[in-house]
Amino acid sequence: MGRAEPTNARVVLVTGASAGIGYETALAFARRGDRVGATARRADRLKQLVSAATGLPGEIQPYMADVRSADDLQRVVADMVERWGRLDVLVANAGLGQRGSIVDSAWDDLEVVLRTNIDGVLHSVRAAVPAMRRSGGGHIVTISSVVSLAPGPYSAVYAASKAALNTLARTLRVELAPDHIWVTNILVGQTHSEFAQARRGRPGRVAGKLPTMSAEFVARRIVEESGCRHRTVTLRWLDRLINLSGLYLPWLMDRIMERVYRTS
Ligand SMILES: NC(=O)c1ccc[n+]([C@@H]2O[C@H](COP(=O)([O-])OP(=O)(O)OC[C@H]3O[C@@H](n4cnc5c(N)ncnc54)[C@H](OP(=O)(O)O)[C@@H]3O)[C@@H](O)[C@H]2O)c1
Repeated sequence: MGRAEPTNARVVLVTGASAGIGYETALAFARRGDRVGATARRADRLKQLVSAATGLPGEIQPYMADVRSADDLQRVVADMVERWGRLDVLVANAGLGQRGSIVDSAWDDLEVVLRTNIDGVLHSVRAAVPAMRRSGGGHIVTISSVVSLAPGPYSAVYAASKAALNTLARTLRVELAPDHIWVTNILVGQTHSEFAQARRGRPGRVAGKLPTMSAEFVARRIVEESGCRHRTVTLRWLDRLINLSGLYLPWLMDRIMERVYRTS
């Protein structure tokens, strides 16, 4: 017997679904009965995700894809539309951290971060939007970071890539409004995931630790936000405070950063 279609089930593309926030987000959508196209480069991890979704009301279809490849994203969206007939939500989540000074880092480490975090989102959006237009509308959720508004030293290229994403999200929201496509940009704070291990660059020179959110919590909030009309979202008071300080008290933030990094 075929799978019963849940009411208001949506077709969702989650990039970077083999670990951390993306993995939990794919599962959270499947839990509410949605059909999820889950992309990443690691096939074994995607297989693990599909097994974890067994018995859930929704469905997860794995796709090996590199977000730096426009062709990969076009192929994924074409297959999802063929399979499920539409595309309703994109969570542009795949991303990579970076550590190291702007001048002394290897260029390869900086370039891969820019290509993943900026080009990757652009390719995802450019593949998803035509399908959403044909579906009569949709919702794009971009995954930015609190450091985009309150950057610290030795991860400047990462912070800049997320600041670029803030600008993209803001302009896309206006460009895509006539197509009934909404854009929500989430400024995520420190979250437990594989982010620190995957990060490019040299170890060392890390500032003090902040309280960490679980990837499951962030995923639940992403799913909630994909049904709301919020523009920019921060998930907790601490992150709001950091962002406000970054925006309105840059001199204070600079002093704090100088002090923290001098003693670390
Ligand atoms: N964790 C935090 O504290 C934090 C804070 C703020 C914002 N964020 C943002 O949250 C998002 C998810 O990060 P996370 O914390 O969940 O990190 P993670 O556990 O390292 O997961 C990153 C995901 O991105 C995928 N990915 C990386 N490069 C890719 C590429 N070229 N093509 C396709 N997929 C790629 C990885 O899959 P494969 O390696 O299998 O391809 C993996 O599934 C990122 O955008 C990150 O910047 C994280």
